Amino acid sequence: MSRISVLRESRIDPHYFDTYASLMMTGNGYMGIRGGFEEDYPEQTRGMFVAGIYNKAQGQVSSDLVNLPDVTRFEFEIDGVNFSMHRGEVQDFERVFDLATGEVCRELVWQHPNGKRFGLCLKRFVSKKELHKVYAKVEITSLSGDADVRIRTGIDGQQTNFGTQHLVEKSLRVFSETWMQGDYVTTQSGQDLAVTSMISAPGSFAAKNRQLLVTVNQKLAENEPFSLEKVSVIATSLETENPAEFGLGEIREAKSYDDALAESRVSWQKFWQDYRVEVTSENTFDQLALDFAAYHLEAMTPAHDERFSVGAKGLTGEGYKGHVFWDTEIFIAPFHLYNHPEKARKLLRYRYLHLEQARAKAVKNGYQGALFPWESAFSGEEETPEFAAINVRTGKRQKVASALAEHHIVADVAHAVVNYYEASQDELFMEHDGLQILQETARFWLSRAVLKQGKYVILDVIGPDEYTEHVDNNAYTNYLAHENVYQTLRFMAKYGQKHTAFYDLCEAFLRKIYLPQPNEAKLIPQDDTFLDKPEIDLTGYKEKQGSQAILLDYSRAEVNEMQILKQADVVMLLYLMPNLFAEEIVARNLDYYEAHTIHDSSLSKAIHAIVANRVGQSEKAYRFFEEACRIDLEAAPGGTDEGVHAASLGAIWLSTIFGFGGIAISDGELHLNPRLPAEWKRLAFSFVWHGERLEIELESDKIRVTKETTAPIQIHIFGEKHCMTTGLEI
Ligand code: BGC
Repeated sequence: MSRISVLRESRIDPHYFDTYASLMMTGNGYMGIRGGFEEDYPEQTRGMFVAGIYNKAQGQVSSDLVNLPDVTRFEFEIDGVNFSMHRGEVQDFERVFDLATGEVCRELVWQHPNGKRFGLCLKRFVSKKELHKVYAKVEITSLSGDADVRIRTGIDGQQTNFGTQHLVEKSLRVFSETWMQGDYVTTQSGQDLAVTSMISAPGSFAAKNRQLLVTVNQKLAENEPFSLEKVSVIATSLETENPAEFGLGEIREAKSYDDALAESRVSWQKFWQDYRVEVTSENTFDQLALDFAAYHLEAMTPAHDERFSVGAKGLTGEGYKGHVFWDTEIFIAPFHLYNHPEKARKLLRYRYLHLEQARAKAVKNGYQGALFPWESAFSGEEETPEFAAINVRTGKRQKVASALAEHHIVADVAHAVVNYYEASQDELFMEHDGLQILQETARFWLSRAVLKQGKYVILDVIGPDEYTEHVDNNAYTNYLAHENVYQTLRFMAKYGQKHTAFYDLCEAFLRKIYLPQPNEAKLIPQDDTFLDKPEIDLTGYKEKQGSQAILLDYSRAEVNEMQILKQADVVMLLYLMPNLFAEEIVARNLDYYEAHTIHDSSLSKAIHAIVANRVGQSEKAYRFFEEACRIDLEAAPGGTDEGVHAASLGAIWLSTIFGFGGIAISDGELHLNPRLPAEWKRLAFSFVWHGERLEIELESDKIRVTKETTAPIQIHIFGEKHCMTTGLEI
């Protein structure tokens, strides 16, 4: 395996402080800590998040993933002056984020206003081995004679979510003049949290203003580095009855920075062995993008606990309030499903465990079955905020309609259940949890559709394209609802539940559901009215994609009345159901709809890459792929400040494996039709199918598949069926 990539920050630019804080999040699925600098800057937002710790502030309709007390801040007073990169002069600055382990490491030389020079080396990582622990190490060397340094660090409970304080401080204590501890409880959800920290040198403690700090005074001799280590343990009532006791127990067992890093590295190595996608490309950026995506997808997934799922920004920031969308099932879960299926099952279990809340939402909205919330958090209830951006015309904030009408999420969850079964053959899950999810979601569609002129139609929905609201018969929604009900019948029959009234109702639904067909111009109508709406020139908006600049010129209502897509919609359908239409129809619709798509959602580009590649538009596919990779890694200032785009990272993986790698699952069978871009010499990845790990290696004129056992597996390669035992080479 080639070396895992590193991400470098070599310029001090405050416009990018928050971008890099998101990109350089160190985490392990239990928690994530933003890559803020140790010293404070007004331009940077710190953040520490534990999966599942949400709270609803008074007067708010939706919960926030709580930004927890900070343990990363260090103040360095050197010869009486506080160190800041905005003061004195910084030389040789570089921050390196090692994707192999999630370690952030900053080195620089600082020229003090008094002319003396100091070397600083500041490091931190969250352990993958010890889920609750964060390790930090700071090292200062005077390069010009003796100096005095005062280092202050500790636990800072002044953190907020965009100004909202979610924690009540229960106590701040110091034990045995060594261990500092802050105990907190969330104001509404009642979750306890203990943050316990210790440093490696004696110091004096002070507690004030929600902060518990320790100060170390040190004389520096020239060229003799002084280093200080800090360990923190984060524990909550989600995993232990007494987080404070747990914290004190764990901190006693903390290791040195280097030993803990070595251990964590071993855990990460196991991850990389299985999940690494290796590419030999003319552009080294491609491997960086794939490593970056894989690191974050792993670090955002709470594989330790099925009671929560993945937020739209993972554990990297406060954006989207840490809420869970369809992003998880459609964009993120496949990364795990085809590498470690049990992690995908846990994400589905999150939905299963919240069927009750989904049923309640359905009833509240006048339907039956399960209507999963458009946005959810810990409780499983609807969490979509009431308002979005201000309407440029009226000056009022606009209501978010997704909770009321973006119902495709129901079928997306069902789709993920079937995908899980096809890949894992996990009968135990399917016969119970899976079937229940399928039945309840199918029941929803039966109640959601209405019979009009002999056809079941689905009215007043929002499809994936959120710039087109309240439409009838969104193609994506209708086809996925059909698939949802069809698969429910299939599994009811399989598990002996054929002779029920519900089964008959499902059959009737399938016979009569309206499925939009291509028109004379070979276009699949996105919905009943879309193709009749006027078009405008989108060139300027496409140039500013991702920024929603169109909403500065037009109100949402106006955008709704034009042929403007925020993101893949029909193209999304074509991606998920590769065999619905002939290649010619797919190509025609891709071209048409892409021309009308601004790609203001990060969920769009990589999906276009997959569909473009399937219809032989390789150059375009590669361009889409590269653009998707740049969404976070080359974000414009502000674009990634509130966290990375979790679904987009999943889609980068999808576009590599399901796009260029040519994997497709059709009728439960595995297909491989690779088409590498001209820039790529080799692509290698593993793919777990029916309990077997396949190692797939692709070159422009070669396909090699190897596997661990001799159990036969069927695979279609360029349409030809092969039965593999040990593997094959073509
Ligand atoms: C997209 C949704 C997505 C959400 C969270 C929105 O901008 O339109 O499709 O689920 O972001 O990523």
